[in-house]
Amino acid sequence: MNNQLLLDHLRCIPDWPIKGVNFRDVTTLFKSPEALNEITNEMFKLYKDKEITKIVGIESRGFVMSSAVAVKLGAGIVLCRKPGKLPCETVQESYAKEYGIDTIEIHKDAISEKDTILLHDDLLATGGTMKAACNLVKKFHPKKIYCNFIIELSSEFPNSRKLFDKDVEITSLLKF
Ligand code: PRP
Ligand code: MG
Repeated sequence: MNNQLLLDHLRCIPDWPIKGVNFRDVTTLFKSPEALNEITNEMFKLYKDKEITKIVGIESRGFVMSSAVAVKLGAGIVLCRKPGKLPCETVQESYAKEYGIDTIEIHKDAISEKDTILLHDDLLATGGTMKAACNLVKKFHPKKIYCNFIIELSSEFPNSRKLFDKDVEITSLLKF
């Protein structure tokens, strides 16, 4: 993977949304055709032999790459959304975040036991969001769960990976 290409397009905003948070802004990655292509190809390489049937994209910044990679993998997409957005019956999970409390939900009929799931989000910080998404997906008893992030803040949050069960395989493209 061309790390430098991604680093060149990633913007950092100090003290946003609150003081002390150094915000990694992936919108500048997404607006670059070259960076978008690089991320798509790298994720495809990582998961092309894993028989992924569905990508669960986490609202909202997790939706973007989920879509591109699902098309390449021949997989479907499931939207993991913030509450009150999905029209049909849902399963929910609440969690503590880097700056506040949040809830996510998935349609009750979105995943089956035959699915192999790739969960995707833009960023791993405390791990609260993805851990909640994993807990949620586990309720559907899929065959296997993989997790992927574009960015992992491993220096600031060195214990985030430890939140996850050993059978959940995690990858990230960039580590800081
Ligand atoms: C951010 C980021 C991840 C999550 C990471 O999303 O996009 O989803 O926080 O933090 P964690 O590992 O500490 O849980 P946010 O909830 O700000 O919403 P957005 O993607 O809709 O902007
Ligand atoms: Mg997010």
